[in-house]
Amino acid sequence: MRRPLVAGNWKMHGTRASVAELIEGLRRLEVPAEVEVAVMPPCLYINQVLVGLEGKAIAVGAQNCALEPMQGALTGEIAPSQLVDAGCGMVLVGHSERRTILGERDEQVCRKFAAAQSCGLVPVLCVGETLEERQAGRTLEVVAGQLDAVIDELGVDAFARAVVAYEPVWAIGTGLTASPQQAQEVHAAIRAQFQAQSAEVAQAVRILYGGSVKAANAAELFGMPDIDGGLIGGASLNADEFGAICRAAGN
Ligand code: 13P
Repeated sequence: MRRPLVAGNWKMHGTRASVAELIEGLRRLEVPAEVEVAVMPPCLYINQVLVGLEGKAIAVGAQNCALEPMQGALTGEIAPSQLVDAGCGMVLVGHSERRTILGERDEQVCRKFAAAQSCGLVPVLCVGETLEERQAGRTLEVVAGQLDAVIDELGVDAFARAVVAYEPVWAIGTGLTASPQQAQEVHAAIRAQFQAQSAEVAQAVRILYGGSVKAANAAELFGMPDIDGGLIGGASLNADEFGAICRAAGN
């Protein structure tokens, strides 16, 4: 049995004041014990969130990390080892906003994945197609390529200590959600790709869905056999909405 994971990606949102409010809301949540819950604030607020959530079963992760594992001369970046030192347990790599807006490529994503893992962080590898790619019928090919970029370099066993998040770019922040069937099709293909190399990894790896997940559509998505939880953007900024999504993952 794979333990469901619901992670809130706060993206570039928040002020010290709004983060304090969100922490208060999260502290009041009833988080189902069978669901692993995490939030990923902007780096500036990671410490505030960790301190604020002390004693609460909500883990804290980061949205990005440097290519190199250890601290050094790399202006503006944050090393995976520093994230561990701060108290983070996981980190997103290859989010589509970083791929499309900041030009992050598979090669860099792969290096970040390896750097994070070498420090004991769990990388959450984000993959997903654009609208043009979906309309051209290339969804599975694009996602497989993003996954292979890491599997070919680091080996399938690297995913024994990693998470995959399928986030169709056209569904992110748009209010458009992949239907449960559309998402399941891609999740099943991802799992089959692992299965071809390791039945053990395929069975164990958690594949999250992300893209306009809300309390209203979460249960249906999480009910699909290969959807093991969610990566939540906008809806994770509202503690009650996020709590309802976490509970949907427990049902
Ligand atoms: P939204 O939930 O706002 O669509 O964002 C999804 C996402 O990008 C999470 O990483």
